[in-house]
Amino acid sequence: MRRGSSSAAPAPASWRPGGMSRAHDPHEGIVWARGAGPFLWDASGRRYLDCISGYSANNFGHGHPELVRTMQEQASKGAHVPGAESHIRRELEQHLASLLSKEVLKTLGWEAWKELGAFAESPDYAVWLSTTGARAIEVAWKIAYACRPGVVVCFDLGYHGRSLASSLLSDTARSGVIGPHAGLGNANIVRTIPFPRESGQVSMEEACESSLKEFQRMLERDSASLSMLILEPAIGARGYYFAPNRFYQRLVGMARAAGLLVVSDEIQMGLGRLAGLSGALGAGWLPDMFVYGKSLGGGLLPVSAVVGDSNLMNQLGAGLESETFAAQPLACAVAMRSLELLQSEELADRSRDLHTELRTGLSEVMPASCVVGCGSATAIDFAVAVGSQNARELAWRWVVAARELGVLLHLTGPMRDRVAIIPPLVIQPWEMNEVRAALVQAWEVVQRGVSD
Ligand SMILES: Cc1ncc(COP(=O)(O)O)c(C=O)c1O
Repeated sequence: MRRGSSSAAPAPASWRPGGMSRAHDPHEGIVWARGAGPFLWDASGRRYLDCISGYSANNFGHGHPELVRTMQEQASKGAHVPGAESHIRRELEQHLASLLSKEVLKTLGWEAWKELGAFAESPDYAVWLSTTGARAIEVAWKIAYACRPGVVVCFDLGYHGRSLASSLLSDTARSGVIGPHAGLGNANIVRTIPFPRESGQVSMEEACESSLKEFQRMLERDSASLSMLILEPAIGARGYYFAPNRFYQRLVGMARAAGLLVVSDEIQMGLGRLAGLSGALGAGWLPDMFVYGKSLGGGLLPVSAVVGDSNLMNQLGAGLESETFAAQPLACAVAMRSLELLQSEELADRSRDLHTELRTGLSEVMPASCVVGCGSATAIDFAVAVGSQNARELAWRWVVAARELGVLLHLTGPMRDRVAIIPPLVIQPWEMNEVRAALVQAWEVVQRGVSD
């Protein structure tokens, strides 16, 4: 409503704008009082095992003592400096660049790197530090655009943030925020390809072929107008959907052959959630840029990063990107420690094994085909479990029943008929057993409701 308009609506009764409503969230209304490790406590003192983990921001749990200590130490030495130049920043940039170079060679092998590396003979990575995930996506977009201007291609189900620019790449908000008004969000800026999803009528194989064909047609029509392909290594925010490695490899191969840059948005699925440092590398495909966020900041601070070949990263001219809080020593110290923890505690491997056991356990009581996942990302597809008619309602009821039993789950998917089980990577085996027992019991509660 414009200021001064005679038909101005009355001031909203609440101090919170309606656009912030989370009515879709079964946990809406719970006020969190504190967290420690994989646990959260509500204001009434009730304890829950947190299997949402801040959508991977809390992969190290809540208030990891090492991270808190690092943060306190750095804060006492200087949290913020002009221009953000500091020893710890240099250390972090070099560390992240070198970790990724090593992981590329370890997972893909030297030969594959040489074959795929578009900009250099060996991985020579540079790092651009930022704050939120959305800002890092924008940095990657700017770099890609500087190198090869054109239209961005993304998955229809993708999610890359809700800043003004990243909204254009994100499923729900793509057309809703500025699209219809500003003429943005149209095919001159973004084009989408379907993320393959199997259904009663379509197998995963068919869905993959159809998606690849659509991309092929797009490339044949006008590949010169396309700039970058941005992918999540598995769909996170929009429903925990997974596609075969081979699908990703072929898609990325086609993009590369046509000269497009490939960006892997690892913000939710990277740093141990799917595989080691990178879900893309874990699935055997190499992006030109990796984008990190969420757990890089250890659940304590917003820290994000774009990592790519230094020649590519240098395409963005000086002064075209900056942020007051990017690369501040406080954030860098925490990010450095987060990376060290991820390496030293072998969290990803241990957590992956716990998820494999969890999926096996749940498959014994639920239809096996509804239990999906990869690495430390597990989800239940209720449309497969109970049929699409009841899926939404039963998914909601399962989440509520699990919460009553002390486990917080993430209701997700465009139809809100999927449930993600994503505890922090630091979860211990006995805690995961508690999760599994509660989920089985919650399933029995839901089943009883159906047969009543
Ligand atoms: C894959 C992915 N990309 C980007 C973002 C945006 O990150 P942020 O909310 O920190 O801006 C998210 C957040 O959920 C995400 O899951």
